[in-house]
Amino acid sequence: MNANNDLLRWDERYQRARYNTFDQPRQFLIDHSELLPKAGIALDAAMGLGGNAGYLIDRGLSVIGIDISAVAVKRAKNQFPHIMAVQADLNHFFLPKAYFDVILNFFYLQRDLLSIYPELLRPGGLLLIETMTRDMLDIKPEIDPKFLLAPNELREAFASSMEIITYHEGWTLSRDGHRRAVASMAARLPG
Ligand SMILES: C[S@@+](CC[C@H](N)C(=O)[O-])C[C@H]1O[C@@H](n2cnc3c(N)ncnc32)[C@H](O)[C@@H]1O
Repeated sequence: MNANNDLLRWDERYQRARYNTFDQPRQFLIDHSELLPKAGIALDAAMGLGGNAGYLIDRGLSVIGIDISAVAVKRAKNQFPHIMAVQADLNHFFLPKAYFDVILNFFYLQRDLLSIYPELLRPGGLLLIETMTRDMLDIKPEIDPKFLLAPNELREAFASSMEIITYHEGWTLSRDGHRRAVASMAARLPG
C-alpha cells in the first residue's frame, strides 16, 4: 500500500461517524499522566483527530502532531488550535534528534520509527506506545500482519535503550466496545 492509498483510506475513514471517538485521549495516556512533565515538547505520531495531543496541551506541553490524513489534521487543528499540526507521511518525514520530552505513538506501527524513538527523545524523555498485536488475527484475519506486533516485540525493541516503566500485552475493549489485542508500554530514556 503506498502513501497515497493510505491518505485516501484514512481520509475516507475519518468521514465516518465511528471514528469520531478518536478525538478523545487514549485511556493508556490518562492512566500514565503522572509520568508527564509539566512543560516541554511532545511528538504525537499519527495523531488522528488530536485527542491525545489536546490532552497534552491542556497539561502544559507544546505538541507537534503529525498525520497523513488531511481530514484528520484539519479537524484536529479546528478542535485544538494550539497543536502544531502537520499533514505528512511519517515514512518520509525528518524528525530532529534529542528534541522531544514526550513521544506518543498510539495505534500506528512503523517499525523504522520505533527504532529511532530513543534518539529523538531528550534525556529523561517519556515514550508512551500502545498498538495492536498479532492476536488480533484471531478475530480479524484480514488485517495485514505487518501492522501488528509480534509477542514481546515492543519490549525487546526498547529493552536495551530505555527504562521500561510499564509493559502489558493482552485484550482490552476499544472505546466503541470492540475487543482489541494490544501491547502497551511506558518507557523513559535514561538521563
Ligand atoms: C488508528 S489511527 C490512530 C490515531 C491516534 N493515534 C489515536 O490513537 O487515536 C491511525 C492513524 O495513522 C495515520 N497514518 C496512517 N499512515 C500514516 C503515515 N504513513 N504517516 C502518518 N500518519 C499515518 C492515519 O491517518 C490515522 O490517523
